[in-house]
Amino acid sequence: MNRQFYIETFGCQMNEYDSEKISGLLNSQGYMETTLRDEADLIIFNTCLIRENAENRLYGNLGEVKRLKLANKEKIVAVCGCMPQNQKVREKMLKMYPFVDLIFGTNTYDQLPELLYDIEQKKKKKVISIVENSDNLKEEVPKSRKFSHKAFVNIMYGCNNFCSYCVVPYTRGRERSRDRQEIIEEVIALGLTGYKEITLLGQNVNSYGNDIDDRYQFPDLLRDLNKVEGIERIRFISSHPKDVNLEFIKAIKECNKVCSQIHLPVQSGSTKVLQEMNRKYSREQYLEFVRMAKAEISDISISTDIITGFPGETEDDFNDTLSLVEEVQFDSAFTFIYSIRPGTTAGKRTDQIDDKIKHERFDRLLKKLYPIFEANNLQYIGRTVAVLVDDVSKNKETYLTGRTESGKLVHFVGDNDLIGQIVNVRIEKARTWYIEGTIV
Ligand code: SAH
Ligand code: SF4
Ligand code: F3S
Repeated sequence: MNRQFYIETFGCQMNEYDSEKISGLLNSQGYMETTLRDEADLIIFNTCLIRENAENRLYGNLGEVKRLKLANKEKIVAVCGCMPQNQKVREKMLKMYPFVDLIFGTNTYDQLPELLYDIEQKKKKKVISIVENSDNLKEEVPKSRKFSHKAFVNIMYGCNNFCSYCVVPYTRGRERSRDRQEIIEEVIALGLTGYKEITLLGQNVNSYGNDIDDRYQFPDLLRDLNKVEGIERIRFISSHPKDVNLEFIKAIKECNKVCSQIHLPVQSGSTKVLQEMNRKYSREQYLEFVRMAKAEISDISISTDIITGFPGETEDDFNDTLSLVEEVQFDSAFTFIYSIRPGTTAGKRTDQIDDKIKHERFDRLLKKLYPIFEANNLQYIGRTVAVLVDDVSKNKETYLTGRTESGKLVHFVGDNDLIGQIVNVRIEKARTWYIEGTIV
């Protein structure tokens, strides 16, 4: 039986990694992956609820898949991930797209073989598996990792912060740190099988251990993972400013394999807005964390997330964001237009910002950020940097792409057999989003 599956993933690295697990589980059930949706026996959408456009992308796709399902009733259509975790969204989906056969969430992907058995063997018409929280989600599932030189490693699940704009605490459940021994053993196994880089995943990795009653925290984990043989680079996303302290910065500095890069979402430069977002730090505290990080690690690269048009954001508040951006000189940033999310407290506010103003502020923010990114990248010109080669460039076939230790995207000409190796590249060109050079 040579069954084929097609999977499309929306959202963050958490979802990307869940998709690697879902694919691994399907491979173990005899399914082969295809990139052709029309030919697949099983079509899966791993969804994201973070902003309205992520949600709409699923609906657009389901609209297209309807035709395939009508033409062939044997095809299985599955929706998983963050969207169905929300009851109202799930109900809407069931009503508008009744042909969806299988729905599972972020805490039940490990049940996939049994869920498929119910559909394929027991001929059940609709199978739904959602739990809000899970303490026994199986991490030891087969994984079909996208790369053979770098790997994701979950260190925590869920989020307890309830930032007033955000759905993640509702889609991923409560914060849970994974057992440290399990994490260390997984990384040792990755090192033994040739992986050079790991990225530790969690909504707030530096809150690791806060939910466990002992003193072992994120800096301790970094120090232990730094000892693992074979692993050359350790990355982690995201960090929450509220849990930044000197101990954390020192661990990054002292561990030679831990990359000197922090993704530290600020969201806004206005203390008033930060308070209303429930971020638990002020503008001044954030700037202090950045000063501390730069004082300890001179070449640290700092990136961030910023939202424009949060409810009640005034022109002054927005100017505070612009001035913070100027002060920090971020290496890169993900920027978002505020989107009303179901069930969140900010979504219920009556002082929502006009769409036009949100967009206009967004454009002004980009105008401020881009020259800063470029100026940071220009400093690389003339330097020789170690690059872990990831892949062939999507745009230029003769080019390879990789990243510096600081996370900069590098383009250069080279042979495909360099993929997975660390090479030295002399930088000659700098653009807003990447730097370019020649292998030395
Ligand atoms: N846990 C991470 C962020 C995960 S979500 C952290 O707190 O750092 C990724 C980013 O999406 C957030 O940092 C935020 O900038 C953005 N985001 C979340 N909810 C949003 C919303 N309702 N509208 C616009 N952007 C949003
Ligand atoms: Fe969302 Fe805030 Fe949790 Fe990040 S910390 S996932 S922004 S609630
Ligand atoms: Fe990630 Fe989107 Fe879920 S950002 S955690 S996939 S809501």
